[in-house]
Amino acid sequence: MSLQKDSKKLCDMLNDAIAREIQVSIQYMWQHVQWIGVKGFAVHDEFKSTAVAEMKHAEKIAERLFYLGGIPTTKPAPITVGKTLKEMIKADIKAEEDAIKMYKGIIELASKEGDVTTAFIFKEILEQEEEHHDTFTTLNEAL
Ligand SMILES: [Fe+2]
Ligand SMILES: [Fe+2]
Repeated sequence: MSLQKDSKKLCDMLNDAIAREIQVSIQYMWQHVQWIGVKGFAVHDEFKSTAVAEMKHAEKIAERLFYLGGIPTTKPAPITVGKTLKEMIKADIKAEEDAIKMYKGIIELASKEGDVTTAFIFKEILEQEEEHHDTFTTLNEAL
């Protein structure tokens, strides 16, 4: 049982975060599958390792939400795989930008509600999302 009493709004935000972590882990995994050819040689390892990182984020956030008394969603947010490498990277940059924005909001609300642990968890995840964003924008420049 958690001593922490988070608002429904904050718990809903954690579930939105889980939905988008599941989304991007599937999105990057299928991009990895579709770009194992010569053209995607330089990027397909990035897709794979990032997909795994996102899956770990989903698990971490789900553990926190469950501790707070919520039930983690199993439904991903809408997935955009894309057909060309350019389309894929564009969708991924957008996904990371959405994550950065959403997680800053969660950190702000969690801090306001005195939930230091959730704020800390999202600060760590945010750092990694900024790295992903950097990777995808760098790849985009190289295309
Ligand atoms: Fe993530
Ligand atoms: Fe990410």
